[in-house]
Amino acid sequence: MTNKSMDKIMALAKRRGFVYQASEIYGGINGFWDYGPLGALLKKNLRDAWWRDVVQNPCRGALGPNGEPVRMLPLDTCIIQHPKVWEASGHIAGFNDPMVDCRETKARYRYDHLFVYVPESGDTQGKPVFCFMPDSPSEAKQKKKAEKAFGAIRSVPLSSIPKEEWPRVLAPEAEKPGSLTEPRAFNLMFKTYVGATASEDDVAYLRPETAQGIFVQFKNVLDTTRVKLPFGIAQTGKAFRNEVTPRNFTFRSREFEQMEIEFFCHPSEAADWYRFWRDARVEFWKRVGLAGENLVLREHDRDELAHYAREGAGTSDVEYRFPFTAPGFGELEGIAHRTSFDLAQHQKHARVNLEVFDAERGELLPNGARKGEKYLPHVIEPSAGLDRGVLALLCEAYTEDASRPSPELLRLHPELAPIKAAVFPLVNKDGMPEISERLHAELTRRFCRLGPIEHDVKQSIGKRYARMDEAGCPYCFTVDGETVTSQTVTVRDRDTGAQERIALDRVSDFLAERLGPG
Ligand code: GAP
Repeated sequence: MTNKSMDKIMALAKRRGFVYQASEIYGGINGFWDYGPLGALLKKNLRDAWWRDVVQNPCRGALGPNGEPVRMLPLDTCIIQHPKVWEASGHIAGFNDPMVDCRETKARYRYDHLFVYVPESGDTQGKPVFCFMPDSPSEAKQKKKAEKAFGAIRSVPLSSIPKEEWPRVLAPEAEKPGSLTEPRAFNLMFKTYVGATASEDDVAYLRPETAQGIFVQFKNVLDTTRVKLPFGIAQTGKAFRNEVTPRNFTFRSREFEQMEIEFFCHPSEAADWYRFWRDARVEFWKRVGLAGENLVLREHDRDELAHYAREGAGTSDVEYRFPFTAPGFGELEGIAHRTSFDLAQHQKHARVNLEVFDAERGELLPNGARKGEKYLPHVIEPSAGLDRGVLALLCEAYTEDASRPSPELLRLHPELAPIKAAVFPLVNKDGMPEISERLHAELTRRFCRLGPIEHDVKQSIGKRYARMDEAGCPYCFTVDGETVTSQTVTVRDRDTGAQERIALDRVSDFLAERLGPG
């Protein structure tokens, strides 16, 4: 797939009402996208598939590493939390300023704190320039090197060096030039005010992840249900990040939806649960239609890990090869062993005890009972992006086939397809519309819980098939002249374009066999 096909996917997404630019009639607003009728259905279907797989029938009944069914509880927490939640989580301190990382030394710097020694004349003669932090040992060291290379020098802010010249910037403690990453803004949180006065005391934030709502309610869930560790809490919902460079269609948006699990377990079992969830989550994405070589699981290198995760079993990303990342991959979902970092932070900041007591652990007593153990659970977090999931499904499903009357189609998995089936009369007369209306009503009654069944009487039959191919509708049933005499209809398969005749009274069961019972 190339970038050219990304343009075509975006054009189809707009034309067929999957995704619109937000506030389009006002010129749009960067980083925000709305879902049209077909997009809203596709997004709901993916969210529902996740919910079924995670909450209603966790991992489709697979046993966890403890040999027991996976326990999972749902939750729905607020977008706006107490501002101290974000202090505890590290989002206020850590998401604060544009930062640059040195890939060689792993040091992180405030972008606006870095300066560079360049020749007084401005002509670098293609040589490296020397970056330093004022009032740090790097200042004198880099000055010496710069004077040796250029003679007379002056210092300028790193921000004044054009990005094309960054490969020649030698970072403060680095050996080789070109190790600095692009600056990234760390305070990505949207600020708002709670209450009428809008003073600094009323500042609140739109959540940048749904996860913290789960940590904050962990103890309530434990105390108000009969759940026992190990167990997970799952929720879906909007998250907001004021991304510096929103791009690649919906891939990096400022408002997006997450589907997150926080799975709580004993620290000694965390490595097993980490591996379990990593594999379970890849299976999910394969099942919804990303089964090919465009899907990979990538284990993070040790030095990529967040500081708390370094003590843990690891972090992996489920990645998809989007047209704009090809031949590379982009993250769909991260699975991280977060140790007890978040619970420990909330315990400290809220001054509440979030430890659990497990009576079945601890030393064996002479009477055969256990002494019990108090501990702060470890957490495995599979955190997926719904919008990125929808985008990956669209990219994977998008197919061009010039030999067909409809050269563009979406090969969406029937479970995910926004429109489940369509019913057409071949022509809008001769008793055909009456039969097709009856069939449409019957199918709608049975399958409306899964999604809409379309009924279309206008345009040529070829055009109606083409419209359904572009919408990703897997089956079209056509009532024709023969239906009246033989009580049969044709069923057309979207992926092959092949048609077969089946009995009119078999249509509903035919669909149930392919979509589920409805
Ligand atoms: N609680 C952990 C967490 O939020 P993350 O890797 O920052 O981890 C999880 O986000 C997922 O959310 C990502 O894998 C991605 O699918 C999605 N996501 C993150 N930022 C996004 C953005 N700006 N636009 C769309 N999706 C995003």
